[in-house]
Amino acid sequence: NWAMSEFIGKEIARIRAIVGEKGQVIGAVSGGVDSSVAAKLMHMAIGDRFHGIMVDNGVMRHNECAQAKKMLVDKMGINLKIADASDRFLGNLAGVTDPEQKRKIIGNTFIDVFEEEAKAIDEECAATGHAPVEFLLQGTLYPDVIESISFKGPSATIKTHHNVGGLKENMKLKLIEPLRELFKDEVRELGKLLGMDDELVWRHPFPGPGIAIRILGEVTKSQVEIARKADYIYIEEIKKAGLYRQIAQAYAALLPIKAVGVKGDKRTYEQMICLRAVETSDFMTADWFPFPYDVLKKISSRICNEVNGVNRVVYDVSSKPPATIELE
Ligand code: XMP
Repeated sequence: NWAMSEFIGKEIARIRAIVGEKGQVIGAVSGGVDSSVAAKLMHMAIGDRFHGIMVDNGVMRHNECAQAKKMLVDKMGINLKIADASDRFLGNLAGVTDPEQKRKIIGNTFIDVFEEEAKAIDEECAATGHAPVEFLLQGTLYPDVIESISFKGPSATIKTHHNVGGLKENMKLKLIEPLRELFKDEVRELGKLLGMDDELVWRHPFPGPGIAIRILGEVTKSQVEIARKADYIYIEEIKKAGLYRQIAQAYAALLPIKAVGVKGDKRTYEQMICLRAVETSDFMTADWFPFPYDVLKKISSRICNEVNGVNRVVYDVSSKPPATIELE
């Protein structure tokens, strides 16, 4: 695609002009397509003076960090640090059940960890001869720009979205947003042009607060493990059935209510997994995905058999509105 190749060249030149010869840039990398494409462009423009930081918040999907490292570091050469803060996040979340409270805690902890990482880079820069970090990379897309304009004001806040926007004022870093004029399909095209695997290019969106907003009630390590394992099976079966690209977003959530069941010849009293899958073009409205029954049957049977602590699986047949895509 000619327009996209031209975009890459122009954007790299623009970044170089802004950052200069010695400037350094920091950016949060989530393992999703937007932040990966943004990081790749930045790496092409300024090499290792771009510092990607992936914060392991303890509520990411199964193998998320290892997978991101394989793709971004090993394959694409991006300078990425994985900051394991999972215990810190889970510690801060202990005893918290309110959805907005969970989101705030995760957002604030994220900012703390990110700031500490930025400081560590600044401390090293005397040795490298680079300038202290002055810029923050964000993978903001055009629809995000529009949404943040149209949803201004506390009365319009349905959910506190977690992104690194809040770092802007706190850290006094200057924002660089290479994707701010692009739509998702264009970012995917860019990703392909930049040599990313289909697996990454077609990834469903994943919210910043991760599995924490997909576990109703308190978020504990053992609850995260249950939700994570069920989610992994669910996504694996969706891919096997060839349905992943037809679905805009899918996840397994954990409902902390118990029901009676039977496994082998033993009575069980265990929790429930709630499956969600939606079709949507803009994520503002969404319909539940009409799964073929045999696929649902296989998923349910695998989750009940393979995930300890679960004896029932339900499928969420609510559209947005009145439901939202996430549970919290
Ligand atoms: P809802 O649940 O509001 O979700 O229908 C709409 C879309 O937004 C995603 N989402 C988030 N993304 N940080 C994000 O980066 C967040 O805090 C967040 N909350 C929801 C959600 O996954 C869906 O794609």
